[in-house]
Amino acid sequence: MTKLDERYELLDLGTEGLSESLAEATQRGLTASPKELPCHLFYDERGSRLFDEITEQPEYYPAQADEEILRDRAAEIVAAAGGPLELVELGSGSSTKTAPVVDAILATQDDLVYRPIDVSRAALEWGAENLLDGRDALRVRAVCGDYAEGLARLGAGERRRLVLWLGSSIGNQTRDEAADFLRRAREALAPGDALLVGIDLRKDTETLEAAYDDSAGVTAEFNKNLLHRLRDDLGADLDPADFVHRAIYDREAGVVRIYLESRRDQVIEIDALDLEIPFEQGERIHTEDSTKYSLEEIDALAKRAGLVRERTWLDGEERFSESLLRVS
Ligand SMILES: C[S@@+](CC[C@H](N)C(=O)[O-])C[C@H]1O[C@@H](n2cnc3c(N)ncnc32)[C@H](O)[C@@H]1O
Repeated sequence: MTKLDERYELLDLGTEGLSESLAEATQRGLTASPKELPCHLFYDERGSRLFDEITEQPEYYPAQADEEILRDRAAEIVAAAGGPLELVELGSGSSTKTAPVVDAILATQDDLVYRPIDVSRAALEWGAENLLDGRDALRVRAVCGDYAEGLARLGAGERRRLVLWLGSSIGNQTRDEAADFLRRAREALAPGDALLVGIDLRKDTETLEAAYDDSAGVTAEFNKNLLHRLRDDLGADLDPADFVHRAIYDREAGVVRIYLESRRDQVIEIDALDLEIPFEQGERIHTEDSTKYSLEEIDALAKRAGLVRERTWLDGEERFSESLLRVS
């Protein structure tokens, strides 16, 4: 593997742009009713590793389907975007799915600047090491921080931009938030730039609930990473084993809702915040949503954001979609 060299630069925005720090989110979310914590807090180094493990679970079809589309259609996607390109990626994680797109671009131009934006510095570094290895014509300009803030700071580009937002991360937002986020992304980009957005499709409850509650318990461990962070970073006197992971599909809303459910009545003291949080047995902390779309809903989403949906690619089993949305 390549050690990071002068082809890698990192701009660390800290918590700027993020709605809340761990302490602020805990203070607000655990004193709210019902209790909640924002999902960007999953991704410290341990959480990023666990997410990568989730993508290897047989039940987690979104990763397999997304990878299949990008592996098989990268050249078509890059041709449809139209070059020469600069590549931006929102919530890139360890950039495991990005390589086919990078290679397809490098097959059509001499060099490439890749700008991944992610809250996890560890994941940005793993991703850059993997991508730089064996690709001398690649430069990585990473931004550690909130992706809305990273996008807003992109400034003018010398080349047309292709912005990847893969892995169904858009599903963590409500439909209104997603339309608003895409509208702001459009405003940060120039006419002719494009977004490639990975969006998971509506499907049966059994498949969806299994995807977010795999039999090896990796997603449960990922969800409980929030409890590890409360214990290790804020001094909360809790045992993660006192909570159960729940993934429940609300079919009508088209949303998988993820919770941590208390196994018993308990009071958790959080030293760093001077807080005592009571839980009743069965009481839940809402930690994540994953919104699913129909193709019609994807069309409506693009229109609301003022973007033109030019092409959509599906995997062979039509479980997952990648849409090319153009800034006009
Ligand atoms: C579901 S993972 C997807 C990773 C990768 N793109 C993939 O498809 O496998 C979401 C990624 O977004 C990052 N992330 C979550 N919220 C973020 C935010 N508000 N700003 C920047 N990155 C964020 C996480 O650190 C994580 O790497």
